[in-house]
Amino acid sequence: SRNVRITLHPSFDVLAATTAARLITRLLDVQGERGEATVVLTGGSVGIATLKAVAESPARLAVDWAKVNFWFGDDRFVPADSPDRNARQAREVLLDHIGTDPARVHTMAASDEVDGLDAAAADYTAQLEAAARLEWENDDDATSEQAPTVPRFDVLLLGLGPDAHIASLFPEMAGIRSHGVPVVGVSNSPKPPPSRVSLTLEAINTAQEIWIVAAGADKAAAVGLGLAGANPVQVPASGARGVTKTLWLLDQDASAKVPGQL
Ligand code: 6PG
Repeated sequence: SRNVRITLHPSFDVLAATTAARLITRLLDVQGERGEATVVLTGGSVGIATLKAVAESPARLAVDWAKVNFWFGDDRFVPADSPDRNARQAREVLLDHIGTDPARVHTMAASDEVDGLDAAAADYTAQLEAAARLEWENDDDATSEQAPTVPRFDVLLLGLGPDAHIASLFPEMAGIRSHGVPVVGVSNSPKPPPSRVSLTLEAINTAQEIWIVAAGADKAAAVGLGLAGANPVQVPASGARGVTKTLWLLDQDASAKVPGQL
């Protein structure tokens, strides 16, 4: 009923390749219906490997990449040219190679681009609001009286930490507890680098589909707790719920503690 699905893959490489194929197909389907499509990217090993697999797939040529809107679920608040930047990694493996429209690639501000974490969060909030407003003004079928604060996310990718963090929402920290805002600045992240910018759970859960992608034995406990429906303050991943679908895409090792094991 909650439309939560789990799919197992034999290895990290197969997981990345299959998630890439799934993403290409999803973008094609959405573009067929609406002309454009919107994806929220994640950092992390599987997230970036997935983008690399998209770049290497012949099927990528079927997508009109100039009409795909890209957002980021989180980024590391370090200088723009740092190799730690999720935006830089995504550019290097995929975005620079497929004819994206730079105006549709929405990155979070880097530490040398704005004055502090709060300014970075405010900047991304404003980018989201502007895109949402434009979408709402151009949508003849819009039912809401007011423009939403985030645009329609067709698919939102999330990596998973061993502590069950998603994006940069870590257990028990301010980010996972924040309400009423779409973006937060995160300091003292237990995963380096310490300063980050992240979508909030509320913003994440506006996505039509959320795909949580995880590989490796060190993720098995987090997967188990996330699927068991633990409190999101302790287990952030368990709070992620897409509007139409929530997919857990796992490799064999990460699936070892799936409840009622398959
Ligand atoms: C980041 C992330 C983070 C990541 C997970 C999983 O910027 O670090 O977006 O949420 O996706 O920590 O990362 P791995 O796949 O590398 O374990």
